[in-house]
Amino acid sequence: MNLLLLGRGKTGSLVVEVAAERGHCVLTADIEENAGCAALASEKLRDIDVVIDFTAPGSVIANIEATVRAGKNMVVGTTGWYGELDRIRRLVEQRGTGFVYAANFSVGVNLFFDVARAAAAALRHGYSGQIFERHHVHKKDAPSGTALTIQRVIQEASGQSEDLEITSFREGEVVGLHEVVLESANDRIYLCHDAKSRRGFAEGAVRTAEWIAGKKGFHDFKDVWREL
Ligand SMILES: NC(=O)c1ccc[n+]([C@@H]2O[C@H](COP(=O)([O-])OP(=O)(O)OC[C@H]3O[C@@H](n4cnc5c(N)ncnc54)[C@H](OP(=O)(O)O)[C@@H]3O)[C@@H](O)[C@H]2O)c1
Repeated sequence: MNLLLLGRGKTGSLVVEVAAERGHCVLTADIEENAGCAALASEKLRDIDVVIDFTAPGSVIANIEATVRAGKNMVVGTTGWYGELDRIRRLVEQRGTGFVYAANFSVGVNLFFDVARAAAAALRHGYSGQIFERHHVHKKDAPSGTALTIQRVIQEASGQSEDLEITSFREGEVVGLHEVVLESANDRIYLCHDAKSRRGFAEGAVRTAEWIAGKKGFHDFKDVWREL
C-alpha cells in the first residue's frame, strides 16, 4: 500500500519503521511540510491508500477534515479531539470514506481491557479494587487515558456506581504499566499490562491501515482489533 504518515514524532517514526518492514511505501509530512494541510491537497493524495495521523490535538481536526474531504481513508492515533467525535462521524459517513481511531492502538492493551471486564465480576462478590499506573516522567497527563478506560470498563461491567481509585506514578523512562488489584478477605487477584516499547502502538496502527484499505465506515479500534 501507499501510506502517508502525518507527524514524525516518537510514535510516528516507529509507524514508518513498521510500515516499511511490512512492505508498504510510506510518505511522511512533518508540521512544516503540512502547513495549512498542504500535504493533504487532493492531487497529493491521488496515489495514497490510507493516511495515518500521529500529530497533536491542535492539528488533528484540520488533518481529518482535509483527508476525509479528499475522499481518503484514515487511521487516527492522535488523542484530544473526542469532543468532535459525532461531527467527524457524520462527515465520514457523508463522504463515504473509511476511518478508524483509538486512544490506544496496542492489541495487548485492548486484550487487557477484556481481561479487566471479565474480572469486574469480583466487585459483585465482596472484592474491593484499585488501579495503579506508572509512566515516564515526561508524560503530561495523569491519570493516563488507558487507566481511565480500565476504570470505565470495570465500572460498566460490574454495575457498581463507585469508580475504582487510580494511583499514578511518574518515574524514569517507564513506557506504560497498568495494574488492577482486586482484594477480598480470602485472596488477592493481580492483573498487569507492562508495555516494553511504543512499537505496539505503531504495529496496531499499521495493521489497522491494512484493514481499513478499501473499506468504508467510522470505526473504533476496540471493535476492529480482533479482525486484524
Ligand atoms: N493511539 C495510540 O495508540 C497512541 C500512542 C501514542 C501516542 N498517541 C497520541 O499520538 C499523538 C502523538 O504522540 P507522540 O508521542 O508521537 O508525540 P510527538 O513525539 O510530540 O510527535 C508528534 C509529531 O507531530 C508533529 N506535528 C504536529 N502537527 C503536525 C501537522 N499538522 N502535520 C504534521 N506533523 C505535525 C510534531 O511536530 P513538532 O514537534 O514540530 O510540533 C511532532 O513531530 C498524541 O496525541 C498522543 O497522545 C496515541
